[in-house]
Amino acid sequence: MKAVRVVRNVRDMHRVADRMRMDGLRIGLVPTMGYLHEGHASLMRQIGRVTDRTVVSVFVNPAQFGPDEDFKTYPRDFERDLAMVRSEGGALVYAPSAAEMYPDGYATYLEVERLADHLCGASRPGHFRGVATVVTKLFSAVKPHAAIFGQKDAQQAGVVRRTVTDLNLDVEIMVAPTVREADGLAKSSRNRYLTPRQRRRAAVLFRVLQEGRDLVLAGERRASVVIDAMCRRVSGSPGVEVDYVTAVDAEAFRPVEELGGRVLLAAAVRFGESRLIDNIVVETERRAVQEIR
Ligand code: PAF
Repeated sequence: MKAVRVVRNVRDMHRVADRMRMDGLRIGLVPTMGYLHEGHASLMRQIGRVTDRTVVSVFVNPAQFGPDEDFKTYPRDFERDLAMVRSEGGALVYAPSAAEMYPDGYATYLEVERLADHLCGASRPGHFRGVATVVTKLFSAVKPHAAIFGQKDAQQAGVVRRTVTDLNLDVEIMVAPTVREADGLAKSSRNRYLTPRQRRRAAVLFRVLQEGRDLVLAGERRASVVIDAMCRRVSGSPGVEVDYVTAVDAEAFRPVEELGGRVLLAAAVRFGESRLIDNIVVETERRAVQEIR
């Protein structure tokens, strides 16, 4: 297995990226906050099929955490991350420090209007400003031809696509299906916060979304009916605090009264300290486009 190169600063990253481009290699970027799991491995495999060199960025981005959120306690294990990148055939890990990304005097942030108004944008003010900013900075450092994001963070992927379109960035954005545990729980670095009992209970998140999907597929088009059914189901589960459970337009992430076209059934739920999110896309004209189980 080849050693993985670690790059810690923007200047070196530019040099290495320019070299790869001069050699005619297509660069694929997997942006992460580390503590890699099978979901990230799947992103690496998928981008590895369409590019020549996979770069994985590992950076826990302070700008996307609110003051009362889990920035300090977010799980970190760089050696384990390196081992996973190596075993998935990744070429390089870009792991800048916070001082490298946001040096003294740093003052430039990207605001993506409208798309960030609902769902996680509403419950985590400033979150997508931080995401759009850091992803754009990662693109500018790594110079990827393509970058890949997970469908679990559907709104994040939408915000990144919007940023790329609006700023004319020359990066292809790929979105990969959510990787799940056997009971349906989406893989996430934050699952590690769950106690064994919370972990068992957390499976309700995907079940609720499946029930919503089944209602839509059975012909229910009133968003309020689908949302009420999902909310009843999740708030009836013990140890759960709902942030949101909803059905929105899958492109604009806006609430709708009548479900039509591509619908995103999405939920954010707290189990103790862990706030977990998940979603399913349903094509009302046809079938669920993601993960029929
Ligand atoms: O999804 C994540 O891990 C982060 O939001 C990202 C895209 C790496 C930006 O910090």
